[in-house]
Amino acid sequence: MFKFWSLVIEPILRAIGARRLVEIGVDSGACTRHLLEYSAATGGHLDYIDPAPLFEVDAAQARYGAFSTFHRCTSLEALPRLSAADVVLIDGDHNWYTVHRELELLAEKAAETGTGFPLVLFHDVAWPYGRRDLYYAPERVPVAHRQPYAQKGMRPGVTELLDKGGLSAQLCNALREGGPRNGVLTAVEDFVEESKVGTLQVIPILYGLGILVPKRLEGHAALTAELQRWQSESGLKVLLELLERERTVEQTDLQGEIVRLNALHETLARRSEELSKLLQVEHGAVLQQYAESDRLNAKCERLASEAELHRQDRDRLRAELDLIHSSHTWRWTSFVRTASAILAGKEPWHAGNGK
Ligand SMILES: C[S@@+](CC[C@H](N)C(=O)[O-])C[C@H]1O[C@@H](n2cnc3c(N)ncnc32)[C@H](O)[C@@H]1O
Repeated sequence: MFKFWSLVIEPILRAIGARRLVEIGVDSGACTRHLLEYSAATGGHLDYIDPAPLFEVDAAQARYGAFSTFHRCTSLEALPRLSAADVVLIDGDHNWYTVHRELELLAEKAAETGTGFPLVLFHDVAWPYGRRDLYYAPERVPVAHRQPYAQKGMRPGVTELLDKGGLSAQLCNALREGGPRNGVLTAVEDFVEESKVGTLQVIPILYGLGILVPKRLEGHAALTAELQRWQSESGLKVLLELLERERTVEQTDLQGEIVRLNALHETLARRSEELSKLLQVEHGAVLQQYAESDRLNAKCERLASEAELHRQDRDRLRAELDLIHSSHTWRWTSFVRTASAILAGKEPWHAGNGK
């Protein structure tokens, strides 16, 4: 929405002297920053609403607190508590139920305060969410009002969601585009048809900006001039230039991103090659260690079986010796060995009479 700020939104706010503003859907605050500056400069007040902003709300409130109030909740929770507004910017949960209910709440407030219906600006009234619901938090939308959905991407001209790729594949998108009670534009058209609060104009670029002008402002000269601009040849040329600028900026960013990803891909491929070479070398070394370990194991086994044979020999010889020592012949020839030992000058126990 913020891309329309200087060309479309701010001139409309100034044309009608808007002071009391409401913004639904803050995100990173690209539009909020402009609205806060505008409120401070004009002495107005901005109520801005988002259950999960990606914006430094505390810092913003410290600076613009005198001109603004932040509401950390959903639009359907916040709107009944707010005072009537001159202009409401709707860029929150892009589904039929939420947008239709937001408009109903604005109408209830207008009736209650007698202030008249506000001028409402909507983002995403063209593809992809003009005719297809998106659910930031599906559980917040009653089942009866929820389209079947999936976290899959979209492509212009394709009714179903894509199996792979496509735009905003991370979001919960309605399975089918079109049909009743599906999408932001359908919600706005249905509400305008039911309530007859005013007329809708659409600037069909950059996802589409809807401008709902309430009946009480339909004859407002400065506003009418601002709006007619976008139907004149010179106004359309300005929109085309904006579109071309945005297209080329996106193309440039995209090419930059492709170059960055290619470089990353090459670095990763190089690193992967280096690692696989390193792995091969390590693998060879490990195989060698396995072979060495096998060789040592075999040697151990061989030595163990040799030791076993020696043990068996020793036991056998001991048994034979025991047999000899216990024989009569050995005992009867004992004196011969003693005498031989004495003659040889040895002590008699060297004669081998004992074990
Ligand atoms: C498309 S972004 C808004 C972009 C912002 N307006 C801009 O111009 O940069 C939608 C935001 O709406 C918020 N959101 C989702 N559901 C909401 C709800 N029910 N009420 C208010 N905000 C909601 C999301 O948290 C998200 O930050």
